Amino acid sequence: MRDTLHFRLGPEPRALRDVDPTMTVLEYLRGPERLCGTKEGCAEGDCGACTVVLVDRQGRHQAVNACVLFVPALDGQQLLTVEHLAAADGTPHPVQQAMVDHHGSQCGFCTPGFVMSLFALRTEAKPDRVAVNEVLAGNLCRCTGYRPIVDAAMEVCLGTEVPAAVALPAMDGTLALAHGGKRSFSPRSSDELAQTLLDHPDAVIVAGATDVGLWVTKQHKTLLVTVSLDTVFDIAGVVETGGFIQIGAGATYQDALPLLEQHYPDFGGMIRRIGSRQIRNRGTIGGNIANASPIGDSPPALLALDATLILRRGDARRSVKLDEFFTGYRRTVLAPSEFIERIDVPVPVPNQAFRCYKVSKRFDQDISAVCAAFRLRLQDGIVRDIRIGFGGMAATPARPTAVEEFLTGRPWTEATIRTAQSVMDNAFSPLSDMRASSAYRRTVARNLLLKCFLETSEEAVLTRLIPA
Ligand SMILES: Cc1cc2nc3c(=O)[nH]c(=O)nc-3n(C[C@H](O)[C@H](O)[C@H](O)COP(=O)(O)OP(=O)(O)OC[C@H]3O[C@@H](n4cnc5c(N)ncnc54)[C@H](O)[C@@H]3O)c2cc1C
Ligand code: FES
Ligand code: FES
Repeated sequence: MRDTLHFRLGPEPRALRDVDPTMTVLEYLRGPERLCGTKEGCAEGDCGACTVVLVDRQGRHQAVNACVLFVPALDGQQLLTVEHLAAADGTPHPVQQAMVDHHGSQCGFCTPGFVMSLFALRTEAKPDRVAVNEVLAGNLCRCTGYRPIVDAAMEVCLGTEVPAAVALPAMDGTLALAHGGKRSFSPRSSDELAQTLLDHPDAVIVAGATDVGLWVTKQHKTLLVTVSLDTVFDIAGVVETGGFIQIGAGATYQDALPLLEQHYPDFGGMIRRIGSRQIRNRGTIGGNIANASPIGDSPPALLALDATLILRRGDARRSVKLDEFFTGYRRTVLAPSEFIERIDVPVPVPNQAFRCYKVSKRFDQDISAVCAAFRLRLQDGIVRDIRIGFGGMAATPARPTAVEEFLTGRPWTEATIRTAQSVMDNAFSPLSDMRASSAYRRTVARNLLLKCFLETSEEAVLTRLIPA
C-alpha cells in the first residue's frame, strides 16, 4: 500500500499525502495550488468552466470537468490547466491566440474552459466542424455567443497539437489515502478490487464520479470509504469476442463508443448525446447501470439489445440479464461487496434493425424526458422478434413486454403499429415531473414506436417518405 498520490501538475511533480480523498481537483487547484484560471461555474459538470486536461499513460489528452473529479483520479497522470499552455516567454498558445483574434472572449469567465477543450481537441486526428461542435457542447458561454468561438476553433484545428512526451510518475502498489476519518483505495486489478470491497462492504465505488461527484458537491454527503476504478486496468477495456462486445466496467463512454457505434450507429449517436465530451471522457456505462436511474440513457438501448452483466463478489461471478438487474426505483440486485465487472452486448444478427431515440428539452447536455430503443428482426415483412427498452416511463428502465408480445408474428405495417400504440398506452404509468408530464411521455412513447416503423419499414418509406 502507498499513502502518497503522485502526479504531474504541468511540468512539475507533485506528491500529496494526508489529503481528503473526496476533495475535487477544482478545489485542489483553486485552493492549495492557488491556480485560479480554472473557474467554478456550476460545480456539477454542466458548464465546462472548470475544464482541465488529463494526460494518461497512453499519452491521451482528455478534457474533463475538474469540479466532479476527485483527487485520487490524478494518480500517475499529468494534469494540465490553462496556466500551462502559454510558452515560457509568455507567447500565448495558438488556441489562446485564436480566441483573441476571433473575439471569442468577453467577460472571460468561460474562456479557460473553452481553451482547454480546444487544446485537447487539437491532439486528436484532424478535427472538423462536427467534432468542434461536439466538443464545445460541454462549454457554456453566456456573453460572447458561439460563432466567434467556433471560428477560433476552426482555425486552431487546422493545426495539430503534438505535445512533448512527459515522464509520468510510477504507480507502485495500491494507493490508499486517509484524511480526517475518510479513506480511499485505488486497487490495481479486479482481484484486488474484489478483495477491497469484501474488506469494506460499505465502501462507495467511484468509477467516473460523474454521479458520485455530485453527491459531494451538491448534496454535501460525506463519503467515508471510497474505492476507485481508475487504476483497475484489467476491466478498463472494450473488446469484441465470441459474438459480444464486452465492455469492462472501468471503460468510459468514449472508450466504448467506437465498437458500439460500429455495430449500432444509433447507439453511438445516443452516446454522443450523453452529457458532454468532458462527461463522456470520465463516465462509464457500468456507473450508468449501477446508479439505477429511471432516466439513464444507456439502459434502454442495453435492454433492447439483451445485454448481460457479469457481477462479481470476491471470487464468485454471476451473469444477470439487464432486465433482471433493476428491482425498483434506484434499487438493483447488487449485494454488498458485489460489483459490475463487465457488460456483454450481443453483436447484430442478420436482418436485425436497431433504433434508439433520446427526447430531451435540449439536444446537448440534457437528461432525457423519454429514451427508447428498438431491436427488430423481420422476415418477409413479419416481425420475427422485437425487444423494446424505455427510460423515463417507469421507476426503472423497462420493457413494454405487452407491446413486444403484440407485435411478434404480426406484419410490420402501419395498421399493426396503430394498434400497438394503444397497447403502449397501457404498458406504462409514467410520472409527471420537471422534465415532462405523464401525458407528454405517453405521447412520445407512442410516437417513437411510429418513428421506428417509419425508419425501418419498406412500406412506410415508399408510400410516405418519398413523395410521389
Ligand atoms: C453534467 C452531467 C451530464 C450528464 N448527462 C447524462 C446524460 O445525458 N445521460 C445519462 O444517462 N446520464 C448523464 N449523466 C449522469 C452520469 O454521467 C452517468 O450516469 C454516468 O454513466 C455515471 O457513470 P460514472 O462512471 O461517472 O459513475 P459514478 O458516478 O462513478 O458512479 C455512479 C454509481 O454507480 C456505482 N458504480 C459505479 N461503477 C460501478 C461498478 N462497476 N459496479 C457497481 N457499482 C458501480 C457507484 O457506486 C455509484 O453508485 C450526467 C452527469 C452529469 C454530471
Ligand atoms: S464548474 Fe461547471 S462544469 Fe465544472
Ligand atoms: S465570455 Fe463571458 S461567459 Fe463566455
